[in-house]
Amino acid sequence: MSRILDGNDPRTILHAAERLGAGDIVAFPTETVYGLGANALNEKAVVKVFAAKNRPEFDPLIVHIGDKDAASPYVTALDPRARQLMDAFWPGALTLVLPKRPVIPDLVTAGLGTVALRMPSHPVALALLRAVDFPIAAPSANPFGYVSPTTAVHVRDSLGDAVDLIIDGGPCHVGVESTVCALTEHQAVLLRPGGVALEQLESVIGPVRPGEPTQTDRRSPGTLLSHYAPRVPVLLLKPGAALPRPEAGERLGLLSLTPRSDARGYTRTEALSQDGNLLDAAAHLFAALRRLDAAGLDRVVIESVPETGLGRAIMDRVRRAAARD
Ligand code: TXA
Ligand code: MG
Repeated sequence: MSRILDGNDPRTILHAAERLGAGDIVAFPTETVYGLGANALNEKAVVKVFAAKNRPEFDPLIVHIGDKDAASPYVTALDPRARQLMDAFWPGALTLVLPKRPVIPDLVTAGLGTVALRMPSHPVALALLRAVDFPIAAPSANPFGYVSPTTAVHVRDSLGDAVDLIIDGGPCHVGVESTVCALTEHQAVLLRPGGVALEQLESVIGPVRPGEPTQTDRRSPGTLLSHYAPRVPVLLLKPGAALPRPEAGERLGLLSLTPRSDARGYTRTEALSQDGNLLDAAAHLFAALRRLDAAGLDRVVIESVPETGLGRAIMDRVRRAAARD
């Protein structure tokens, strides 16, 4: 069984840094979701991450760094937009896709000529990154395609023995994964909406083109149609639509933005926020999906949220949760 150690204990950071240095994998908290980390420069270690997650090798990993200055050895060029975005949002929930240098193994980037870089803001993640002398490649610490973990217990519940060491840094306060923005074309492209809102990016670098969500976009498999998905079937409710009534004997669940008084006959209900605040809603989304998934329901109805700010990332995740292959 995997061990969960307290990330606020400096001995945990030292121990985890040693394990990573020896080529092992370690799960650690970030402000977005928990990551499953390996030395990004050690291919044998990175292989273990793909294996533990059952992740296809065509899906590239994000490379995490502990300082803004640490980016330049891994990318061929940092254009002015990259610098502006790093200054505005790092450390934080923004991943930048930039042209890579050969020192980053092809396995990490799935053979792409680009690397995804992020400097997280979680103090435990930063302490770990600063305790090692290499960047840490880390996808979300969940089996491929399943809901991302926002607590240490989520990591243990879904990865179990596949990871020995899990660092506990409390619940993730952003709660959805980082925004992935590619700066490899003339216009910036939003490959995945996430913890930094599109409006925030555009206020710094001007118009950002939305990436096309397709089943086959190998540039960013986080855009696969069915992803972040619970096991229970999901029905996404159109904005303003009435709640469906449970059929006879049906165990129905509800995930709503705010508490609803009209969920008669529902077996289990979850509200993401008391007052409709989208930051709160994002922070609670994945834990609520996991609870609903564990409640033995036949189906879960999810209410749409407004697609502004973090609402874009929330709707992106619930659409994929509702999609079936
Ligand atoms: O918040 C996060 O980003 C978390 C924490 C742990 O940092 N990580 C995370 O990693 O969500 P993952 O592997 O679950 O999602 C990474 C996304 C995937 O959609 C992947 O396809 C995309 O980033 N990605 C990684 N490298 C890329 C590249 N070179 N070009 C385009 N997309 C890339
Ligand atoms: Mg993921």
